[in-house]
Amino acid sequence: MGLFRLLVLSLFHVSLVSSQPTERSQQASSPPHPPGEQSPLGSDNLSFPWSRLRLPRYIIPLHYRLLLHPNLTSLSFTGSVQIQIDVQNNTNWVVLHSKNLQISQATILDENFAHLSDRVLPVLHNPSHEQIGIFSPRVLSSGQKYFLYIEFGAELADSFYGFYKSTYRTSTGETRTLASTHFEPTSARMAFPCFDEPSFKANFSVRIRRRPEYISLSNMPIVKTVEVNDGLLEDQFDTSVKMSTYLFAFVICDFKSVSATTSSGVQVSIYAAPEKWLQTHYALEVAVKMLDFYEEYFNIHYPLPKQDLIAIPDFESGAMENWGLTTYRETSLLFDPLTSSISDELWVTMVIGHELAHQWFGNLVTMEWWNDIWLNEGFARYMEYISVEATYPDLKVEEYLLHTCFAAVSYDSLNSSRPISNPAENPTQIKQMFDTISYDKGACVLHMLRHFLTDDVFQQGIVRYLRKYSYRNAHNQDLWDSLANTCSEEDFISGKHCYSSGQAAKNAYLYAGEHLDLTAMMNTWTLQKGIPLVTVRRKGPHLLLRQDRFLRTVMPSDPLWSTLQQGFLWHIPLTYKTDASSTIHRHLMTTQTDSIHIGEDVSWVKVNTDMTGYYVVHYEDGGWDEMVKLLRENHTTLSYKDRTHLIHNAFQLVTAGHLPLNKALDLIGYLQLETHTVPLLQGLGYLEAFYQMVEKRNEFDITTNLGTYILRFFRAVIDQQTWSDSGSVSERRLRSELLSLACHLDDPPCLERARQSFKDWLQSNGTLNLPTDVVETVFSVGAQDDHGWASLLRAYNISMSAAQKSKILFALTCSKDTDKLHRLLDLGLEGKVIRSQDLSSLIMMVARNPRGHHLAWNFVKKNWDTLVQKFQLGSSCIRNIIIGTTGQFSSPEELTEVQLFFESIKEQASQLRATQVALDNMQKNVRWFQRNREPLRNWLIEQMK
Ligand code: BES
Ligand code: ZN
Repeated sequence: MGLFRLLVLSLFHVSLVSSQPTERSQQASSPPHPPGEQSPLGSDNLSFPWSRLRLPRYIIPLHYRLLLHPNLTSLSFTGSVQIQIDVQNNTNWVVLHSKNLQISQATILDENFAHLSDRVLPVLHNPSHEQIGIFSPRVLSSGQKYFLYIEFGAELADSFYGFYKSTYRTSTGETRTLASTHFEPTSARMAFPCFDEPSFKANFSVRIRRRPEYISLSNMPIVKTVEVNDGLLEDQFDTSVKMSTYLFAFVICDFKSVSATTSSGVQVSIYAAPEKWLQTHYALEVAVKMLDFYEEYFNIHYPLPKQDLIAIPDFESGAMENWGLTTYRETSLLFDPLTSSISDELWVTMVIGHELAHQWFGNLVTMEWWNDIWLNEGFARYMEYISVEATYPDLKVEEYLLHTCFAAVSYDSLNSSRPISNPAENPTQIKQMFDTISYDKGACVLHMLRHFLTDDVFQQGIVRYLRKYSYRNAHNQDLWDSLANTCSEEDFISGKHCYSSGQAAKNAYLYAGEHLDLTAMMNTWTLQKGIPLVTVRRKGPHLLLRQDRFLRTVMPSDPLWSTLQQGFLWHIPLTYKTDASSTIHRHLMTTQTDSIHIGEDVSWVKVNTDMTGYYVVHYEDGGWDEMVKLLRENHTTLSYKDRTHLIHNAFQLVTAGHLPLNKALDLIGYLQLETHTVPLLQGLGYLEAFYQMVEKRNEFDITTNLGTYILRFFRAVIDQQTWSDSGSVSERRLRSELLSLACHLDDPPCLERARQSFKDWLQSNGTLNLPTDVVETVFSVGAQDDHGWASLLRAYNISMSAAQKSKILFALTCSKDTDKLHRLLDLGLEGKVIRSQDLSSLIMMVARNPRGHHLAWNFVKKNWDTLVQKFQLGSSCIRNIIIGTTGQFSSPEELTEVQLFFESIKEQASQLRATQVALDNMQKNVRWFQRNREPLRNWLIEQMK
């Protein structure tokens, strides 16, 4: 797009302050310079000096001194910023980011605070790049430092980015306002002019003005509060450590907090709306434990004196890791002992584990650019598992790691996937990097690497990485070098980061001998998209191996197949177990075909032990029959992870056309004997998914038979469930899932029990606290009649527990009455009773309902522009909306219909990866259905005999 065409010049006439700039708080109210009017420096003749999206590298911000004055009544703010800059090339221009800000004045001063010019400096705007350029008539000289001083103002955003407003209601019905920030990835520029790129790390000193009934919070503690005028107070915060702009944050609110101190003296506080105070205690305990854990694990002190965690009532994503002031959705931070379920507890624990991991991975060491956001998010996701396992072993969090990998596989086996490291330049592309690939594939690949290197070597390597790049930025290569402990001459001399060479690859020798090239290996996982399929075949004493790219949308018989395979090769750290010994064998496979000697007297081989590797396995020539037999006869020979992995593998291969459906169904035939929650729910999950698909396609006989089969097959385990909150975490989760499924399948005993509980709840006027793990099921059954539904909506409206509200909302979306579903979507769009932050999940929940799936899709089409405006194009909300509403379409007509819509929004659709993913996904469903409908029908008839 032509830069100059989009250039907007807006200069403001404000007289220059002739002395050293005082950071003034008055409203930046000067009108913009009318187009065409002559400015004092003749700036109409100036054109924007910079044509790239990324800022020039030769002006480095060192220190931001900010003064902010939000007005929570007029819902606007004014501010000023003094930025100390280091100029590294002679230039007349300072180019930095600014978005939707009114700039009322800009000046540049030298190191002695003398103005460089006695005239108003022209400020040029390039909105398409979210940049402004400030022209200095005097050259800024290379090697010198200057102060850039800018005054600005704007409305508080009515969204979830930048400096935005949020509200909440008290139990007496009063609405209160607060203002909060969310900057990652590119919205700091909406709150103040800044060099808004992750590698421009600087110190921040902020002062915030507020009325006495509010408090203000930022990354650092307050050092002093002074009265400025008319009772207005100014909080002066301590200077931050060097950090990226996206981690800066501040909140002005009237919240209350609870506090405690970690063993190393860090003050931890949880903030929430005053009446939610009782829900903050669990988070406090978790945060303190986690900080203690991370300080020890990383062997690096948390560098700030405090860590505040705050629940913001309007929050688009799940949480955000601002340094020292992490922000959360209420459901991600608050735990209500009366209404939060075991899944809620697990979620809160993991989210806190995630955001606190970022205080090191991301905040202390930051990726150089957004293309490698996985260095933040993949690590934080993986550290959730390590930290929660260490601090809350009873939660058995390792049981969920497989699902993180499964989520990655499901995305990565579509052709529309992308490499972990991927170019991203503009804000829409950058936002889209926060996806399953960065998070889940990132975590899963790290899990593979940790297993390959051993826990100790992995830990030492990441500690080395964190120490070496503290307060700096890193690339993938820096991580590989730290893990392999390959040190530069300089590192050795300084003796700082390289302890004992050769130590790191100790375990790797088990696979590859001395010449392991960690970079070459890891590049195959991070620079190349997709996941390998390892096909194994027995031949005498050998196991023959072949690797291909695993694709769920294209069969080997497809003409496209060979093109899509071209050039793909991975360095796969294979592991396997056989019945001949209890050892885990290892082999690094770096070629397309390979073979391993396993001996003659082996009856079965299970490859990818506990799924510590990121690859799918296919057993040819009766290999699957061996597995079916093994599970039937002696399933506990394999670990629960191996059993779950086999189930997952088999159904992946069915979708990809490598295995007939009945083989996979036979494989899960052993589940009646299964007592472990994870494989049980994995197998059940596939049956449930098929049920949902045939139900939506109105395949009545298959639907009925499948429902009957599921209930009959799992009868014993369903009957064992109690309607309570007792038992271990796994037992509680299993109960939740099983009872929800049973009622969904209209199991009479389940319905009867749920109806009775709902009646009790109604009779108590909603005051009865039902067991938290089954309440969603009870409400879903209760929501089936008008009175129940209306009562739930009323309860939703007044509930003070976000956990409770999300359960009620789910139940409301289970109604079979399409008018009610419409009403919910309209309420979500309106954003009053149902907040906008919940709209994308509401749409997804309605789309799950067979009566709602076309309705939800039509709603998205009709309101597309509004949705994009609310959530921004590249956001995860838009992605979830697209994939959530189309994900269950499985007919060619539905596919065409979606294609047509994407055509009609071509300009936007072409910028979105999600549209391609949605199309690939539907294509996969269409083929699945065409190929497997009859086999499923016949298999069920066979089972019903
Ligand atoms: N850094 C992210 C928040 C974020 C998400 C910023 C998307 C910009 C775009 C934060 O650490 C995060 O990952 N949040 C998750 C929840 C978390 C528990 C995985 C989220 O918001 O989905
Ligand atoms: Zn994160």
